[in-house]
Amino acid sequence: MDSNMQGDFFVVKAKDNGVHVIGLTRGHDTKFHHTEKLDKGEVMLAQFTEHTSAIKVRGKAVIYTPFGEIDTEA
Ligand code: TRP
Repeated sequence: MDSNMQGDFFVVKAKDNGVHVIGLTRGHDTKFHHTEKLDKGEVMLAQFTEHTSAIKVRGKAVIYTPFGEIDTEA
């Protein structure tokens, strides 16, 4: 992995059951490649990688990024 990707972590904390964290592929095609389901209180730590260029979060959650904190309800 490219060394300048080391900081590209994010954290998703589910505020409800059934929150989905969906990973989208890097490259020419932008497709879902992984869906992780979180229940209330569950936390996922993940990274943008050579395979993952974007994520989509569905449901009530707080996302912590290097740019700040995002509440999906806000
Ligand atoms: N196999 C995936 C990858 O290496 C795992 C992954 C990393 C992932 N970050 C993610 C899956 C974010 C979903 C969301 O890219």
